[in-house]
Amino acid sequence: MTVSSPFMTVPNEDLTRQYQSIAAEITEAVQAVLPTGRYTLGPFLSRFEQEFAAYCDSTLCLGIANGTEALHLALLACGVGPGDEVISVPNTYAATIFAISYVGATPVFVDVDPETLNLDPARLESAITPRTKAILPVHLYGHPVDMDPLLEIAAAHRLAVIEDAAHAHGALYKGRKTGSLSDVGCFSFYPSKNLGAYGDGGAVTLSSEALYDKLKMLRYMGQRVKHLHEFVGFQQRLDEVQAAILSVKLKYLDQWNAARARIAARYNEAFADLPVKTPQPQPYCDRHVYYMYALRVNPAQRDALRAWLENSGIGIQIIYPNSLHLQPAYRHLGLGEGSFPVAERSRTEVLNLPVFPELTDEEQEYVIDRVRAFYEVMG
Ligand SMILES: Cc1ncc(COP(=O)(O)O)c(C=O)c1O
Repeated sequence: MTVSSPFMTVPNEDLTRQYQSIAAEITEAVQAVLPTGRYTLGPFLSRFEQEFAAYCDSTLCLGIANGTEALHLALLACGVGPGDEVISVPNTYAATIFAISYVGATPVFVDVDPETLNLDPARLESAITPRTKAILPVHLYGHPVDMDPLLEIAAAHRLAVIEDAAHAHGALYKGRKTGSLSDVGCFSFYPSKNLGAYGDGGAVTLSSEALYDKLKMLRYMGQRVKHLHEFVGFQQRLDEVQAAILSVKLKYLDQWNAARARIAARYNEAFADLPVKTPQPQPYCDRHVYYMYALRVNPAQRDALRAWLENSGIGIQIIYPNSLHLQPAYRHLGLGEGSFPVAERSRTEVLNLPVFPELTDEEQEYVIDRVRAFYEVMG
């Protein structure tokens, strides 16, 4: 067994390194906001919204307090409510499905594509009922969903499509940015995301003026004009300080995504001869942004490999360890084990290895060595 380095620790992610690399610019940005006395709905938010809309190939953007609320408000803006059904996937963060519940609609799950673990458009038709109002695909781990067949089905049934792009800032589907492919793109700027704030943050991207007007009012207490509340809205704005920080970080997003992709390519090459499945961008994916690097291993070996790597000082994540349809919160849907075999199996296979732009070559070599050493020992 060969190990290139003595024992070292490799974090799964380390947000402090990125901060250190841009600390002076961040300080300047925050200091530009603080003396203004205006901390919400001001010029820094407007500037970031314009920049992020342009980055996403959308015409419009609204900064929202977090990604969960971006999804919630997007569903409301698309007219989804009690009695409606929204189709999504079981292998996502709870927020995707909770947003459907927040508006009083019922989540309807479809199984995922075994290759990408994303919503499989071939399974959509059989999930559509007269109550279906919208489809909510998730660009899991930063790999775009195959949107064209999905959009075709949605158009045929007059369904709204809302993208959960929380993992996919900058990903490209057939040359087009995720978040701009449907009625509304929903982003999270949770600190660990490819584009992360220093606190909570989120956004919606869109091109319809009518939806934009609705969302703008939903975001701020149902007001078009201050103190005139046309309906019961919400208090869910992205604040000025976070917007100023995000404007700084947006300039680096492509560079950071490219670093993630280089790391992923290196893992893929290093593991090519091992009995594992590495993420393979599909022909329609022009840019996978690797929010997560999901290595898929034999379920019988997954926990042992995880323990081996953790004992070697390597940070491992498993997102998401439990399918949403099996969570206590959705027990009332009556969906047992075996309802969505591909998604269910994936939660026993996946290990998320360290992939963040500042991961050093030496650290990655160590991770690679330790993974390879496991298979040398296990055979
Ligand atoms: C797929 C997905 N959807 C939605 C969200 C919700 O975003 P936030 O944490 O900003 O509310 C997240 C964030 O973790 C996510 O990963």
